[in-house]
Amino acid sequence: MTRKVLIVGNWKMNGSLAASRALVTALRAGAGAGAGAPATLLLCPPYVYLPAVREWLQGSPVGLGAQDLCDKAGAGAFTGEVSGAMLRDVGCSHVIVGHSERRALYGESDAVVAAKFQAAQQAGLVPILCVGETLEEREGGQTRAVIERQVKAVLDAAGVAALAKAVVAYEPVWAIGTGRTATPEQAQEVHAFIRGIVAARDATIAAGLSILYGGSVKGANARNLFTMNDIDGGLVGGASLAAAEFLEIFRAAG
Ligand code: 13P
Repeated sequence: MTRKVLIVGNWKMNGSLAASRALVTALRAGAGAGAGAPATLLLCPPYVYLPAVREWLQGSPVGLGAQDLCDKAGAGAFTGEVSGAMLRDVGCSHVIVGHSERRALYGESDAVVAAKFQAAQQAGLVPILCVGETLEEREGGQTRAVIERQVKAVLDAAGVAALAKAVVAYEPVWAIGTGRTATPEQAQEVHAFIRGIVAARDATIAAGLSILYGGSVKGANARNLFTMNDIDGGLVGGASLAAAEFLEIFRAAG
């Protein structure tokens, strides 16, 4: 089965209106018309820039996603939060949930991540579910247990059928922003493990599930990662803020 290949730029809390415009303009030009492209490019800017980025992307094949959403569906008294419906309203197709920075810095539990995953799907968004172990967990031989717990929290809450309309991203915490990428073999091993967890519940859904790798993906290491059997693209932080570097990663997926 051929799976969708996605290259996602997670801008995190970076940029300005002017810098975002320059970046999007360069990416549009470099990404080409899109028809027949082997991979899809998706940008996840900060919330406040979403409407502007959407406008700058008009007529281009580059997609739009958000970095997070409220775990509550619907509307209401949740000061500071942004709902899935609002993200749809401003043109997002995807949303990242459970990024390790949300889990570690903002205390998001597996239960909250599962609620966000479901809120995203209720709004018609494709959640990009991030999972990954810390260095301490890896060195303590806990990688599989941690990944299994994170994936199963969502599987148990949402059901395996929900994974047919989702993307998973494996982001080892020790590789994020450190310049220390997982080797293609290390990443492949965990990607295959994730696919196996899903396959135990539904082999067809597992076979069609796009699993992205994230953590210090650069132009220079992208191709070796993307050639691995179970790696279906990348979730890119720092390197997505530089147009030439991000486009090199995009082309490595071809
Ligand atoms: P870096 O590419 O900067 O390591 O960040 C990865 C990431 O966290 C993407 O979500």
